[in-house]
Amino acid sequence: MKTRISELLATGSAGRGATITGWARSLRSSKEVAFIALHDGSNPSGIQVVAGRTLDNFEAVCRIGTGAALQIDGVLVESPATGQQWEFAANTITLIGKSDETYPLQKKRHSFEYLRTIAHLRPRTNTFGSVFRLRSKLAHAIHRFFADKQFLYVNTPIITASDCEGAGELFRVTTLDAAAPPTVQGQPDFSQDFFGQRTGLTVSGQLEGELFAQAFGNIYTFGPTFRAENSNTARHASEFWMIEPEMAFADLADDADLAEEFIKYLCRFALEECADDMLFFDRQIEHGLLERIQRVAAADFARIDYSEAIDRLQRSGTTFSYPVEWGLDLQTEHERYLSEQVVGGPAFILNYPKGIKAFYMRQNPDGKTVAAMDLLVPKVGEIIGGSQREERLDLLQARMLELGIATEPLAWYLDSRRWGSCPHAGFGLGFERLVMYLSGMENIRDVIPFPRTPRHCEF
Ligand code: 4AD
Ligand code: MG
Repeated sequence: MKTRISELLATGSAGRGATITGWARSLRSSKEVAFIALHDGSNPSGIQVVAGRTLDNFEAVCRIGTGAALQIDGVLVESPATGQQWEFAANTITLIGKSDETYPLQKKRHSFEYLRTIAHLRPRTNTFGSVFRLRSKLAHAIHRFFADKQFLYVNTPIITASDCEGAGELFRVTTLDAAAPPTVQGQPDFSQDFFGQRTGLTVSGQLEGELFAQAFGNIYTFGPTFRAENSNTARHASEFWMIEPEMAFADLADDADLAEEFIKYLCRFALEECADDMLFFDRQIEHGLLERIQRVAAADFARIDYSEAIDRLQRSGTTFSYPVEWGLDLQTEHERYLSEQVVGGPAFILNYPKGIKAFYMRQNPDGKTVAAMDLLVPKVGEIIGGSQREERLDLLQARMLELGIATEPLAWYLDSRRWGSCPHAGFGLGFERLVMYLSGMENIRDVIPFPRTPRHCEF
Protein backbone atom coordinates (compact mmCIF):
# COMPACT_ATOMS: atom_id res chain seq x y z
CA MET A 1 0.00 0.00 0.00
CA LYS A 2 1.34 3.40 -0.95
CA THR A 3 0.96 6.37 1.36
CA ARG A 4 0.48 9.95 0.18
CA ILE A 5 3.11 12.32 1.55
CA SER A 6 0.47 14.72 2.90
CA GLU A 7 -1.17 11.89 4.81
CA LEU A 8 2.14 10.60 6.12
CA LEU A 9 3.02 14.04 7.49
CA ALA A 10 -0.44 14.66 8.91
CA THR A 11 -0.78 11.35 10.73
CA GLY A 12 2.79 10.18 11.07
CA SER A 13 4.85 9.50 14.14
CA ALA A 14 8.52 8.69 14.49
CA GLY A 15 9.35 5.23 13.24
CA ARG A 16 6.25 4.80 11.11
CA GLY A 17 7.03 2.65 8.10
CA ALA A 18 5.57 3.47 4.70
CA THR A 19 5.96 3.15 0.95
CA ILE A 20 5.85 6.46 -0.87
CA THR A 21 6.05 7.33 -4.57
CA GLY A 22 6.75 10.57 -6.36
CA TRP A 23 9.18 12.59 -8.46
CA ALA A 24 12.60 13.81 -7.45
CA ARG A 25 12.58 17.60 -7.35
CA SER A 26 16.26 17.84 -6.47
CA LEU A 27 19.09 15.65 -5.29
CA ARG A 28 22.22 16.34 -3.23
CA SER A 29 24.73 13.73 -2.29
CA SER A 30 28.06 13.25 -0.58
CA LYS A 31 30.14 10.11 -0.06
CA GLU A 32 28.01 9.03 2.87
CA VAL A 33 24.51 10.28 2.29
CA ALA A 34 22.08 11.44 -0.38
CA PHE A 35 19.11 13.80 0.08
CA ILE A 36 16.20 13.70 -2.33
CA ALA A 37 13.39 16.27 -2.31
CA LEU A 38 10.46 14.04 -3.23
CA HIS A 39 7.07 15.41 -4.29
CA ASP A 40 3.92 13.45 -5.03
CA GLY A 41 1.65 16.45 -5.62
CA SER A 42 -0.26 16.03 -2.37
CA ASN A 43 1.23 19.03 -0.53
CA PRO A 44 3.47 22.05 -1.15
CA SER A 45 6.52 20.83 0.74
CA GLY A 46 6.97 17.24 -0.40
CA ILE A 47 9.31 15.36 1.90
CA GLN A 48 13.06 15.09 2.25
CA VAL A 49 14.25 11.54 1.69
CA VAL A 50 17.55 10.53 3.26
CA ALA A 51 19.50 7.65 1.75
CA GLY A 52 22.59 6.29 3.47
CA ARG A 53 25.59 4.38 2.10
CA THR A 54 24.10 1.15 3.40
CA LEU A 55 21.57 1.18 0.56
CA ASP A 56 22.43 -1.58 -1.98
CA ASN A 57 22.13 0.82 -4.90
CA PHE A 58 23.56 3.91 -3.18
CA GLU A 59 25.88 4.74 -6.12
CA ALA A 60 22.97 4.55 -8.57
CA VAL A 61 20.78 6.64 -6.26
CA CYS A 62 23.39 9.41 -6.29
CA ARG A 63 23.09 9.56 -10.08
CA ILE A 64 19.26 9.82 -10.19
CA GLY A 65 18.24 12.71 -12.41
CA THR A 66 15.91 15.53 -11.38
CA GLY A 67 12.39 14.59 -12.43
CA ALA A 68 12.82 10.83 -12.06
CA ALA A 69 9.90 8.75 -10.72
CA LEU A 70 10.73 6.81 -7.57
CA GLN A 71 9.21 4.35 -5.15
CA ILE A 72 10.70 4.41 -1.68
CA ASP A 73 10.24 2.15 1.34
CA GLY A 74 11.36 3.64 4.59
CA VAL A 75 10.43 5.16 7.92
CA LEU A 76 9.50 8.59 9.13
CA VAL A 77 12.14 10.13 11.40
CA GLU A 78 12.46 13.51 13.11
CA SER A 79 14.54 15.82 10.99
CA PRO A 80 17.65 17.33 12.53
CA ALA A 81 17.48 20.09 9.90
CA THR A 82 15.65 23.33 10.57
CA GLY A 83 12.55 24.24 8.57
CA GLN A 84 11.00 20.77 8.57
CA GLN A 85 9.78 18.49 11.30
CA TRP A 86 10.10 15.18 9.49
CA GLU A 87 12.19 13.41 6.92
CA PHE A 88 11.96 9.97 5.40
CA ALA A 89 14.79 7.49 5.96
CA ALA A 90 14.93 5.20 2.94
CA ASN A 91 15.38 1.44 3.22
CA THR A 92 15.02 0.81 -0.50
CA ILE A 93 14.75 3.17 -3.45
CA THR A 94 13.40 1.85 -6.74
CA LEU A 95 13.86 3.88 -9.89
CA ILE A 96 10.51 3.62 -11.71
CA GLY A 97 11.10 6.16 -14.48
CA LYS A 98 14.47 7.69 -15.20
CA SER A 99 15.20 11.28 -16.06
CA ASP A 100 18.31 13.10 -17.20
CA GLU A 101 19.94 16.50 -17.59
CA THR A 102 17.63 17.40 -20.51
CA TYR A 103 14.68 17.61 -18.06
CA PRO A 104 13.43 21.18 -18.54
CA LEU A 105 12.71 21.88 -14.86
CA GLN A 106 16.16 22.17 -13.40
CA LYS A 107 16.94 24.04 -10.19
CA LYS A 108 16.67 27.63 -11.37
CA ARG A 109 13.46 29.56 -10.92
CA HIS A 110 11.59 29.61 -14.24
CA SER A 111 9.30 32.41 -15.38
CA PHE A 112 5.58 31.73 -15.67
CA GLU A 113 5.86 32.63 -19.37
CA TYR A 114 8.45 29.94 -19.93
CA LEU A 115 6.46 27.40 -17.93
CA ARG A 116 3.42 28.04 -20.17
CA THR A 117 5.47 26.65 -23.05
CA ILE A 118 5.85 23.40 -21.12
CA ALA A 119 2.35 23.19 -19.70
CA HIS A 120 2.73 19.40 -19.60
CA LEU A 121 5.47 19.77 -16.95
CA ARG A 122 4.55 22.92 -15.03
CA PRO A 123 2.20 21.10 -12.61
CA ARG A 124 5.39 19.67 -11.10
CA THR A 125 6.53 23.10 -9.91
CA ASN A 126 5.77 24.62 -6.51
CA THR A 127 3.57 27.43 -7.79
CA PHE A 128 1.48 25.31 -10.13
CA GLY A 129 1.21 22.55 -7.56
CA SER A 130 -0.44 25.04 -5.22
CA VAL A 131 -2.59 26.60 -7.96
CA PHE A 132 -4.05 23.31 -9.11
CA ARG A 133 -4.58 21.89 -5.63
CA LEU A 134 -6.46 25.10 -4.74
CA ARG A 135 -8.46 24.91 -7.97
CA SER A 136 -9.46 21.31 -7.35
CA LYS A 137 -10.48 21.90 -3.75
CA LEU A 138 -12.49 24.99 -4.70
CA ALA A 139 -14.44 22.93 -7.23
CA HIS A 140 -15.42 20.56 -4.43
CA ALA A 141 -16.30 23.51 -2.16
CA ILE A 142 -18.55 25.00 -4.83
CA HIS A 143 -20.53 21.80 -5.12
CA ARG A 144 -20.70 21.57 -1.33
CA PHE A 145 -22.00 25.15 -1.00
CA PHE A 146 -24.87 24.52 -3.37
CA ALA A 147 -25.57 20.99 -2.17
CA ASP A 148 -25.92 22.31 1.42
CA LYS A 149 -28.49 24.80 0.13
CA GLN A 150 -30.30 22.11 -1.85
CA PHE A 151 -29.65 23.66 -5.24
CA LEU A 152 -30.10 21.17 -8.07
CA TYR A 153 -26.93 20.57 -10.08
CA VAL A 154 -27.79 20.60 -13.78
CA ASN A 155 -25.53 19.85 -16.74
CA THR A 156 -26.43 22.25 -19.51
CA PRO A 157 -25.40 21.46 -23.09
CA ILE A 158 -22.02 22.30 -24.56
CA ILE A 159 -23.19 22.22 -28.18
CA THR A 160 -25.96 24.74 -28.67
CA ALA A 161 -27.88 26.63 -31.33
CA SER A 162 -28.30 29.82 -29.28
CA ASP A 163 -25.92 32.65 -28.46
CA CYS A 164 -26.91 33.47 -24.87
CA GLU A 165 -24.94 36.69 -24.53
CA GLY A 166 -25.77 37.80 -28.08
CA ALA A 167 -22.21 38.98 -28.62
CA GLY A 168 -21.53 36.80 -31.65
CA GLU A 169 -18.68 34.98 -29.95
CA LEU A 170 -19.79 31.43 -30.68
CA PHE A 171 -17.22 28.96 -31.92
CA ARG A 172 -18.84 27.10 -34.82
CA VAL A 173 -19.52 23.40 -34.54
CA THR A 174 -19.90 21.95 -38.01
CA THR A 175 -19.17 18.88 -40.05
CA LEU A 176 -19.55 20.70 -43.38
CA ASP A 177 -16.53 20.58 -45.65
CA ALA A 178 -14.77 23.88 -44.88
CA ALA A 179 -13.24 24.07 -48.36
CA ALA A 180 -16.46 23.40 -50.26
CA PRO A 181 -19.61 23.63 -48.14
CA PRO A 182 -23.00 23.18 -49.82
CA THR A 183 -24.43 26.63 -50.51
CA VAL A 184 -27.70 28.41 -50.99
CA GLN A 185 -27.61 31.85 -52.56
CA GLY A 186 -23.85 31.93 -52.18
CA GLN A 187 -23.93 31.22 -48.41
CA PRO A 188 -23.08 27.94 -46.63
CA ASP A 189 -26.24 25.87 -46.33
CA PHE A 190 -26.39 24.94 -42.65
CA SER A 191 -29.62 23.02 -43.15
CA GLN A 192 -27.32 20.33 -44.55
CA ASP A 193 -25.04 20.48 -41.51
CA PHE A 194 -24.88 17.77 -38.85
CA PHE A 195 -27.68 19.24 -36.71
CA GLY A 196 -29.58 20.69 -39.65
CA GLN A 197 -28.85 24.21 -38.45
CA ARG A 198 -26.02 26.49 -37.34
CA THR A 199 -24.58 25.36 -34.02
CA GLY A 200 -21.71 26.36 -31.80
CA LEU A 201 -20.04 25.86 -28.42
CA THR A 202 -21.96 27.42 -25.56
CA VAL A 203 -20.96 30.81 -24.13
CA SER A 204 -23.15 30.26 -21.05
CA GLY A 205 -25.54 27.66 -19.66
CA GLN A 206 -27.90 30.32 -18.38
CA LEU A 207 -30.82 30.05 -20.78
CA GLU A 208 -31.13 26.31 -20.23
CA GLY A 209 -30.47 26.85 -16.51
CA GLU A 210 -33.46 29.20 -16.34
CA LEU A 211 -35.76 26.44 -17.56
CA PHE A 212 -34.58 24.13 -14.80
CA ALA A 213 -34.92 26.88 -12.16
CA GLN A 214 -38.54 27.16 -13.22
CA ALA A 215 -39.06 23.53 -12.32
CA PHE A 216 -36.68 22.93 -9.42
CA GLY A 217 -36.62 26.38 -7.81
CA ASN A 218 -32.90 26.71 -7.27
CA ILE A 219 -30.30 25.24 -9.59
CA TYR A 220 -26.69 25.71 -10.60
CA THR A 221 -24.45 24.72 -13.47
CA PHE A 222 -20.70 24.28 -13.36
CA GLY A 223 -19.09 23.63 -16.68
CA PRO A 224 -16.85 24.78 -19.50
CA THR A 225 -17.85 27.74 -21.65
CA PHE A 226 -16.27 29.00 -24.84
CA ARG A 227 -15.88 32.44 -26.32
CA ALA A 228 -14.33 33.31 -29.66
CA GLU A 229 -13.51 36.74 -28.33
CA ASN A 230 -10.29 38.08 -29.76
CA SER A 231 -9.14 39.78 -26.58
CA ASN A 232 -5.61 39.08 -25.52
CA THR A 233 -5.74 40.12 -21.89
CA ALA A 234 -4.57 38.57 -18.64
CA ARG A 235 -8.21 37.94 -17.66
CA HIS A 236 -9.76 36.43 -20.79
CA ALA A 237 -9.55 32.84 -21.95
CA SER A 238 -11.28 31.31 -24.97
CA GLU A 239 -12.24 28.28 -22.90
CA PHE A 240 -13.07 28.87 -19.24
CA TRP A 241 -15.28 27.41 -16.55
CA MET A 242 -18.32 29.10 -15.14
CA ILE A 243 -20.60 28.49 -12.16
CA GLU A 244 -24.13 29.72 -12.86
CA PRO A 245 -26.77 29.55 -10.13
CA GLU A 246 -30.35 30.49 -10.98
CA MET A 247 -33.17 31.05 -8.48
CA ALA A 248 -36.90 31.15 -9.12
CA PHE A 249 -39.02 33.61 -7.12
CA ALA A 250 -35.98 35.81 -6.59
CA ASP A 251 -35.05 39.38 -7.47
CA LEU A 252 -31.81 41.32 -7.94
CA ALA A 253 -31.28 41.86 -4.21
CA ASP A 254 -31.63 38.11 -3.55
CA ASP A 255 -29.15 37.52 -6.36
CA ALA A 256 -26.56 39.85 -4.84
CA ASP A 257 -27.13 38.29 -1.40
CA LEU A 258 -26.40 34.84 -2.78
CA ALA A 259 -23.30 36.05 -4.63
CA GLU A 260 -21.94 37.73 -1.51
CA GLU A 261 -22.54 34.68 0.68
CA PHE A 262 -20.97 32.45 -1.98
CA ILE A 263 -17.76 34.48 -2.35
CA LYS A 264 -17.31 34.80 1.40
CA TYR A 265 -17.85 31.06 1.83
CA LEU A 266 -15.15 30.36 -0.75
CA CYS A 267 -12.75 32.81 0.94
CA ARG A 268 -13.22 31.08 4.29
CA PHE A 269 -12.90 27.68 2.67
CA ALA A 270 -9.60 28.62 1.03
CA LEU A 271 -8.20 30.00 4.28
CA GLU A 272 -9.29 27.03 6.37
CA GLU A 273 -9.01 24.06 4.09
CA CYS A 274 -6.22 25.08 1.73
CA ALA A 275 -4.10 26.68 4.45
CA ASP A 276 -0.68 25.44 3.37
CA ASP A 277 -1.16 26.39 -0.26
CA MET A 278 -2.57 29.78 0.74
CA LEU A 279 0.49 30.33 2.92
CA PHE A 280 2.64 29.58 -0.11
CA PHE A 281 0.78 32.21 -2.17
CA ASP A 282 1.10 34.74 0.64
CA ARG A 283 4.87 34.21 0.77
CA GLN A 284 5.71 33.74 -2.89
CA ILE A 285 3.01 35.36 -5.02
CA GLU A 286 1.34 38.24 -3.18
CA HIS A 287 2.49 39.53 0.18
CA GLY A 288 -0.52 40.28 2.37
CA LEU A 289 -2.79 37.86 0.49
CA LEU A 290 -4.03 36.10 3.63
CA GLU A 291 -5.00 39.37 5.25
CA ARG A 292 -6.73 40.53 2.08
CA ILE A 293 -8.83 37.35 1.89
CA GLN A 294 -9.61 37.48 5.61
CA ARG A 295 -10.90 41.02 5.17
CA VAL A 296 -13.13 40.01 2.26
CA ALA A 297 -14.55 37.08 4.23
CA ALA A 298 -15.64 39.53 6.94
CA ALA A 299 -16.64 42.50 4.76
CA ASP A 300 -20.03 43.84 3.77
CA PHE A 301 -19.86 44.14 0.00
CA ALA A 302 -20.69 47.62 -1.25
CA ARG A 303 -23.71 48.02 -3.57
CA ILE A 304 -23.54 50.99 -5.93
CA ASP A 305 -25.82 51.97 -8.78
CA TYR A 306 -24.17 52.21 -12.18
CA SER A 307 -25.21 55.87 -12.44
CA GLU A 308 -23.52 56.66 -9.17
CA ALA A 309 -20.42 54.71 -10.21
CA ILE A 310 -20.14 56.85 -13.35
CA ASP A 311 -20.51 59.93 -11.22
CA ARG A 312 -17.77 58.79 -8.85
CA LEU A 313 -15.43 58.01 -11.75
CA GLN A 314 -16.07 61.37 -13.36
CA ARG A 315 -15.47 63.22 -10.11
CA SER A 316 -12.35 61.18 -9.29
CA GLY A 317 -9.98 63.54 -11.08
CA THR A 318 -8.24 60.48 -12.54
CA THR A 319 -7.42 60.27 -16.23
CA PHE A 320 -8.50 56.96 -17.71
CA SER A 321 -7.53 55.56 -21.12
CA TYR A 322 -11.18 54.82 -21.93
CA PRO A 323 -13.95 57.43 -21.73
CA VAL A 324 -16.30 57.52 -18.74
CA GLU A 325 -19.80 58.47 -19.75
CA TRP A 326 -23.30 57.33 -18.82
CA GLY A 327 -24.27 54.64 -21.32
CA LEU A 328 -20.77 53.31 -21.93
CA ASP A 329 -19.53 50.01 -20.52
CA LEU A 330 -17.04 50.00 -17.68
CA GLN A 331 -13.53 48.95 -18.68
CA THR A 332 -11.18 47.01 -16.43
CA GLU A 333 -9.39 50.22 -15.40
CA HIS A 334 -12.72 51.67 -14.23
CA GLU A 335 -13.74 48.47 -12.49
CA ARG A 336 -10.47 48.29 -10.67
CA TYR A 337 -10.59 51.96 -9.72
CA LEU A 338 -14.05 51.49 -8.23
CA SER A 339 -13.17 48.42 -6.18
CA GLU A 340 -9.62 49.45 -5.29
CA GLN A 341 -9.86 53.22 -4.78
CA VAL A 342 -13.53 54.05 -4.15
CA VAL A 343 -14.59 51.05 -2.09
CA GLY A 344 -11.37 49.30 -1.07
CA GLY A 345 -12.96 45.87 -1.45
CA PRO A 346 -15.62 43.99 -3.40
CA ALA A 347 -18.41 46.12 -4.87
CA PHE A 348 -21.60 45.29 -6.70
CA ILE A 349 -22.48 47.68 -9.51
CA LEU A 350 -26.23 47.53 -10.11
CA ASN A 351 -28.72 48.64 -12.75
CA TYR A 352 -26.68 49.17 -15.89
CA PRO A 353 -27.95 50.94 -19.01
CA LYS A 354 -29.92 48.44 -21.06
CA GLY A 355 -27.92 49.26 -24.19
CA ILE A 356 -24.79 47.57 -22.89
CA LYS A 357 -26.38 44.47 -21.41
CA ALA A 358 -27.88 41.25 -22.77
CA PHE A 359 -31.46 40.94 -24.05
CA TYR A 360 -32.70 38.73 -21.21
CA MET A 361 -32.19 41.21 -18.37
CA ARG A 362 -35.24 42.62 -16.62
CA GLN A 363 -36.13 46.14 -17.71
CA ASN A 364 -36.39 48.64 -14.87
CA PRO A 365 -39.36 51.05 -14.58
CA ASP A 366 -37.11 53.98 -15.62
CA GLY A 367 -37.05 52.59 -19.18
CA LYS A 368 -33.29 53.16 -19.38
CA THR A 369 -31.68 50.56 -17.16
CA VAL A 370 -31.92 46.84 -16.52
CA ALA A 371 -31.70 44.86 -13.27
CA ALA A 372 -28.10 43.80 -13.87
CA MET A 373 -25.29 43.33 -11.39
CA ASP A 374 -21.55 42.88 -11.74
CA LEU A 375 -19.36 42.08 -8.77
CA LEU A 376 -16.03 43.90 -9.02
CA VAL A 377 -13.04 42.97 -6.90
CA PRO A 378 -9.63 44.57 -6.43
CA LYS A 379 -6.94 43.34 -8.84
CA VAL A 380 -9.22 41.23 -11.03
CA GLY A 381 -12.11 43.60 -11.84
CA GLU A 382 -15.34 41.81 -12.83
CA ILE A 383 -15.56 38.39 -11.23
CA ILE A 384 -19.34 37.88 -11.40
CA GLY A 385 -21.95 39.01 -13.91
CA GLY A 386 -25.65 38.45 -13.29
CA SER A 387 -29.13 39.86 -13.37
CA GLN A 388 -32.79 39.49 -12.64
CA ARG A 389 -34.35 38.06 -15.81
CA GLU A 390 -37.15 39.55 -17.87
CA GLU A 391 -40.03 37.26 -16.94
CA ARG A 392 -42.73 39.28 -18.79
CA LEU A 393 -43.30 37.73 -22.21
CA ASP A 394 -44.41 40.90 -24.00
CA LEU A 395 -41.45 42.95 -22.74
CA LEU A 396 -38.99 40.17 -23.56
CA GLN A 397 -40.34 39.81 -27.08
CA ALA A 398 -40.28 43.56 -27.63
CA ARG A 399 -36.67 43.76 -26.46
CA MET A 400 -35.58 40.93 -28.76
CA LEU A 401 -37.30 42.63 -31.67
CA GLU A 402 -35.57 45.90 -30.79
CA LEU A 403 -32.19 44.17 -30.79
CA GLY A 404 -32.86 42.19 -33.96
CA ILE A 405 -32.68 38.82 -32.17
CA ALA A 406 -34.67 36.14 -33.99
CA THR A 407 -37.40 34.80 -31.72
CA GLU A 408 -37.99 31.57 -33.65
CA PRO A 409 -34.80 29.73 -32.52
CA LEU A 410 -35.53 30.83 -28.95
CA ALA A 411 -39.18 29.76 -28.99
CA TRP A 412 -38.45 27.27 -26.20
CA TYR A 413 -37.00 30.08 -24.05
CA LEU A 414 -40.01 32.31 -24.66
CA ASP A 415 -42.30 29.40 -23.75
CA SER A 416 -40.90 29.53 -20.22
CA ARG A 417 -42.60 32.95 -19.96
CA ARG A 418 -45.90 31.59 -21.21
CA TRP A 419 -46.88 29.09 -18.55
CA GLY A 420 -46.11 29.79 -14.91
CA SER A 421 -43.56 32.51 -15.51
CA CYS A 422 -42.14 33.94 -12.30
CA PRO A 423 -39.49 36.46 -11.26
CA HIS A 424 -36.09 34.81 -11.27
CA ALA A 425 -32.45 35.81 -11.10
CA GLY A 426 -28.99 34.33 -11.36
CA PHE A 427 -25.35 35.03 -12.05
CA GLY A 428 -22.17 33.59 -13.51
CA LEU A 429 -18.92 33.35 -11.60
CA GLY A 430 -15.82 32.88 -13.75
CA PHE A 431 -13.98 30.01 -12.08
CA GLU A 432 -10.53 31.10 -13.28
CA ARG A 433 -11.11 34.66 -12.09
CA LEU A 434 -12.02 33.23 -8.69
CA VAL A 435 -8.81 31.22 -8.57
CA MET A 436 -6.83 34.31 -9.59
CA TYR A 437 -8.50 36.33 -6.89
CA LEU A 438 -7.84 33.80 -4.15
CA SER A 439 -4.27 32.93 -5.16
CA GLY A 440 -2.96 36.33 -6.23
CA MET A 441 -1.93 34.89 -9.61
CA GLU A 442 -2.15 37.67 -12.18
CA ASN A 443 -2.62 35.87 -15.49
CA ILE A 444 -5.59 33.67 -16.31
CA ARG A 445 -3.26 31.40 -18.31
CA ASP A 446 -1.62 30.45 -15.04
CA VAL A 447 -4.72 29.22 -13.24
CA ILE A 448 -6.15 26.92 -15.92
CA PRO A 449 -4.44 23.60 -16.59
CA PHE A 450 -4.19 23.94 -20.38
CA PRO A 451 -5.02 27.51 -21.44
CA ARG A 452 -6.75 28.29 -24.72
CA THR A 453 -6.34 31.85 -25.91
CA PRO A 454 -6.24 33.40 -29.41
CA ARG A 455 -3.58 31.55 -31.44
CA HIS A 456 -2.83 29.15 -28.59
CA CYS A 457 -4.19 25.63 -28.40
CA GLU A 458 -1.15 23.48 -27.78
CA PHE A 459 -1.20 20.37 -25.64
O1 4AD B 1 -20.71 38.45 -17.50
P1 4AD B 1 -20.84 37.19 -18.27
O2 4AD B 1 -20.64 37.24 -19.73
O3 4AD B 1 -22.29 36.64 -17.90
C1 4AD B 1 -22.89 35.55 -18.42
O4 4AD B 1 -22.41 34.78 -19.21
C2 4AD B 1 -24.25 35.30 -17.83
N1 4AD B 1 -24.98 34.41 -18.74
C3 4AD B 1 -24.11 34.72 -16.46
C4 4AD B 1 -25.42 34.50 -15.77
O5 4AD B 1 -26.10 35.45 -15.43
N2 4AD B 1 -25.79 33.25 -15.56
O6 4AD B 1 -19.83 36.11 -17.67
C5 4AD B 1 -19.90 35.75 -16.31
C6 4AD B 1 -18.50 35.70 -15.72
C7 4AD B 1 -17.74 37.02 -15.75
O7 4AD B 1 -18.10 37.84 -14.68
C8 4AD B 1 -16.32 36.55 -15.67
O8 4AD B 1 -15.96 36.23 -14.33
C9 4AD B 1 -16.35 35.26 -16.46
O9 4AD B 1 -17.68 34.80 -16.47
N3 4AD B 1 -15.88 35.45 -17.84
C10 4AD B 1 -14.69 35.05 -18.30
N4 4AD B 1 -13.66 34.45 -17.67
C11 4AD B 1 -12.58 34.16 -18.41
N5 4AD B 1 -12.45 34.44 -19.72
C12 4AD B 1 -13.45 35.05 -20.40
N6 4AD B 1 -13.33 35.30 -21.70
C13 4AD B 1 -14.63 35.38 -19.67
N7 4AD B 1 -15.80 35.97 -20.00
C14 4AD B 1 -16.53 36.00 -18.88
MG1 MG C 1 -20.11 40.40 -17.76
